[in-house]
Amino acid sequence: MSVLKHESARGHVTGRAAYADELAMPSGTLSLYPVQSPHAHARILSMDCTAAERMPGVWRVLTAKDVPGENDTGPILHDELLFPTDIVNFHAQAVAWVLADSETQAQRAAQSVRIEYEALPACLSIQQAIMQDQFHQPRVQIVRGDVDAALSDAPVCLHGELQIGGQDHFYLETQASWVQIDSEGVVQIVASTQHPTETQIIVARVLGLPAHRVVCRSPRMGGGFGGKETQANPFAAVAAVAAWHSGRAVRIKLPRSLDMQLTGKRHPFWVRYCVGAEQDGRLRGARIELIADGGWSCDLSPPVLSRAMVHVDNAYYFPALEVSGRIARTHLASNTAFRGFGGPQGIFAAEEMLSHVARHLGLPAEQVRAQNFYGLDVSQPSAITHYDQPVRDNDLPELWWQLLRDSDYRARRDAITEFNAASTTRKRGLAIVPVKFGISFNKTEYNQAGALLHIYADGSIQLNHGGTEMGQGLHTKMLTVAARTLGVSRARLQIMPTSTDKVPNTSATAASTGADLNGQAIKAACEILLERLRPIAAELLNCATQEVEFADDHAQVIGVPSMQVSFSKLAATAYAKRISLSTTGYYRTPGLHWDPASGKGHPFYYFAFGAAVAEVEVDGLTGVHVLQRVDILHDVGESLNAEIDRGQIEGGFVQGMGWLTCEELRWSEQGRLLTDAPSTYKIPSVGEVPKDFRVRLFHRELPRTTDVIFGSKAVGEPPLCLGLSVREALRDAVAAFGPDSRHVALASPATPEAIFTAIRALAG
Ligand code: MTE
Ligand code: MOS
Repeated sequence: MSVLKHESARGHVTGRAAYADELAMPSGTLSLYPVQSPHAHARILSMDCTAAERMPGVWRVLTAKDVPGENDTGPILHDELLFPTDIVNFHAQAVAWVLADSETQAQRAAQSVRIEYEALPACLSIQQAIMQDQFHQPRVQIVRGDVDAALSDAPVCLHGELQIGGQDHFYLETQASWVQIDSEGVVQIVASTQHPTETQIIVARVLGLPAHRVVCRSPRMGGGFGGKETQANPFAAVAAVAAWHSGRAVRIKLPRSLDMQLTGKRHPFWVRYCVGAEQDGRLRGARIELIADGGWSCDLSPPVLSRAMVHVDNAYYFPALEVSGRIARTHLASNTAFRGFGGPQGIFAAEEMLSHVARHLGLPAEQVRAQNFYGLDVSQPSAITHYDQPVRDNDLPELWWQLLRDSDYRARRDAITEFNAASTTRKRGLAIVPVKFGISFNKTEYNQAGALLHIYADGSIQLNHGGTEMGQGLHTKMLTVAARTLGVSRARLQIMPTSTDKVPNTSATAASTGADLNGQAIKAACEILLERLRPIAAELLNCATQEVEFADDHAQVIGVPSMQVSFSKLAATAYAKRISLSTTGYYRTPGLHWDPASGKGHPFYYFAFGAAVAEVEVDGLTGVHVLQRVDILHDVGESLNAEIDRGQIEGGFVQGMGWLTCEELRWSEQGRLLTDAPSTYKIPSVGEVPKDFRVRLFHRELPRTTDVIFGSKAVGEPPLCLGLSVREALRDAVAAFGPDSRHVALASPATPEAIFTAIRALAG
């Protein structure tokens, strides 16, 4: 079967692919614009909207008193007021929204809303939160073994503290939604959301309606990256409140700067560790403290922290490990899901420790890493994680040696040593870093999915599933699953926009599970309909039911392609015989359990593995670096679509590299986001993509023990962590500038400024 092109490829390239705010909206659709707080923390003393409401085109100014249901959009806790009542909690927070004929009119009027505030002291960083004891939830902990004992008699015991930066999602399509209440009183939402069911539920909550009165449709998104997992909800909710009062369709589409000011980002983390090792680099144990900056409300911070805590081991066996975590409460936008969902921050800490141990002992970092990989024998403790899950089907050692060989690592290491000896102002660095990433939602109930499949009497097929398309190619993969299972061609299939009235009670398309979960649901639906079609085919073909197979748009007698009936004729016959040609399909991931209180269980169905080698050249006079070459070997199992997977690996890597090298968020002393535009917030561009970029998919010889959809493995998030290879290569290059490279502190992101500072610190 040929590999399908991304179903939106032509639309993306020609510009015809339509997004939420580009769909035809009813004439007279109104627009919204926020009135924003000039303080990070303040009490609202009074609000006067009279002048604004008299301005041309203005319908009204919406405030907390206009909410017909519950004034809250918190996805886990109800701690997130949609419209503040008396306190504002971050700079630029929307205090009220102006509803007007046009966005320009709404924006003008927003400036005329008079609000009096009493400024309150603000907490603007993790450090301040620690000092003021401001946290969202109690400390959580995962413990394996006797950490005190492991550390107290370890021959080498190293301490470190690090600050990990946040990251803006910078999806190309900013937050957008529009809402219309139809003639039957059903609230119809079109939203750029990764979680249409939650958008439906939150809008129902805010309007005080049961879920069946609200439909949410999510057309393709211009990127989500986790930023539209929960944070699409408040905007849809404001538009719904406005539609409720005006009786008109209402849209919100955030300009870039508003999007950056109002929405949360990847969680910055503060990390403190103490790691113990043998003289030969084998790990004894570690004690790790993580504090995530949650921002003003809880949002998804607890599960983000929890994913960080179960990824602080990355691919390594720590015989004893204690990790504790807390969520700082700060007066900043509420931080949220971002590709990897805390996993990258946990893995960052692991790689920092491994690098520290290797440098301190003067051992090659790749040797220390490999020597601490989880073992292959799952009956041994060395193949069990700190949360008690065995690491089955551990491909990493094999993948690692393949990549070392194929990237010519050893020879390049020698060449770099030679180059560095001869060069004073420029130094090169090389590093290899692995990733092990757990696949499944930590929240067990999210690991389910549904599909809805219709075969029409003419033999054409409509496909619905609960996942959303954000560029990652999920729809294309789902078409592949349906085509393969039904034995039909792509042309026969039409995939429909994700909608809560087609498939209900869906999970967010997140945690890289979109294809695994929805693919199984689609396969189940296809199999149900094939079982209904089989007896009809047998009758038409004059054979036994078990002799029927479906292939090439036909039903045929197995092994006798000349005895066949077309899929169209089969569908028409089934219809005439009054056989239902429509069904749902359902899937839930087996064998998962997780106890949040003890931090133990089996939260992941399986692990994804990969590794990357990065080579950089650093200019010591400026701190500027060039990424010379990157080699990636990543395990996607039996790929459902090799081109899409390659795109995910390249894109994920570059996004991770951006987080670690050039994307720097800055706030003013008053808590105003200074980097709220592409001019001040630098995402990687074509110039930063490795000059020589070699991505290969790993092929495993042995069969796997888990049953994943057509043997494929999730790919959406894990490759982002491979960006850490760039950070480690930079550290390697920086070390070459100094006499003593036992520990090379490097701030994150490793901007030219940070690299320059690190070099100076070594020299000094
Ligand atoms: N790829 C593109 N092009 N755009 C995106 O928004 N989101 C990422 C990843 N790849 C994203 C992407 C994130 S955060 C996740 S969780 C997965 O895709 C979600 O899709 P999947 O589960 O179908 O892989
Ligand atoms: Mo991805 S952060 O799980 O949406």
